[in-house]
Amino acid sequence: MPKKLAAGNWKMNGLRQALAEVQALHAACPEPTCDVVICPPATLMRSMVKTCADMKIEVGGQDCHENTSGAHTGDISAPMLADTGASYVILGHSERRASYSETDDQINAKTRAAWDAGLTAIVCIGETLDERESGKTLHIVGDQLAGSVPDGATPASLVIAYEPVWAIGTGKTPTLDEIAQVHGFIRESLQTRFGADGLEMRILYGGSMNPINANEIAAIANVDGGLVGGASLKASDFSTIVQVLST
Ligand code: 13P
Repeated sequence: MPKKLAAGNWKMNGLRQALAEVQALHAACPEPTCDVVICPPATLMRSMVKTCADMKIEVGGQDCHENTSGAHTGDISAPMLADTGASYVILGHSERRASYSETDDQINAKTRAAWDAGLTAIVCIGETLDERESGKTLHIVGDQLAGSVPDGATPASLVIAYEPVWAIGTGKTPTLDEIAQVHGFIRESLQTRFGADGLEMRILYGGSMNPINANEIAAIANVDGGLVGGASLKASDFSTIVQVLST
């Protein structure tokens, strides 16, 4: 069984004072037995890396450009993220797919750029409510997985996050059976494509994960951790999730 991963996606939240939350997280869980990564906004990356230097907390970006440098105003490249001391990057989040029309091809290219820079890519996939209600969930998730993940993925370089779009920030979650079905499908697809390595790649659940539901979600087969938005912003909530994923 892969080691579990608690990943916090701070999205566009957090000023310098929010670094205190990471100190509080460390105080609450100094020795987590799961991996822990926080993905703050770009403005906090370097100070977060410094704050976490002696903690079992890694730092990740929330996106990167597919090129290493150039005329791309406002963008950040994978080597730039790595240069801050980051070790992960979230790619293909549904908020970016929706707001910036990111395609699977682009996410595939970004993932390769992340790997070239030595980063672990957390590639997000998930269906909208319409797609779920019309019975297309596995089709959508399968297509996104096939298109967004490049050949050559390894358990160290790739993490998949299944995030149903309708569960993000809404307080709604799929049933435990629905999560089990999609995670089982992702596992089978990874195994078919990557062989034994596919059994070791981590598959996170994301979407309204919180200290109350984390226990039952974490117990589902093929759930290897969580990609947590709102509940990662407060140390008191996120530390509970880290503790659940550490058991
Ligand atoms: P919430 O946990 O706030 O629903 O966000 C999930 C998410 O989008 C993590 O990437």
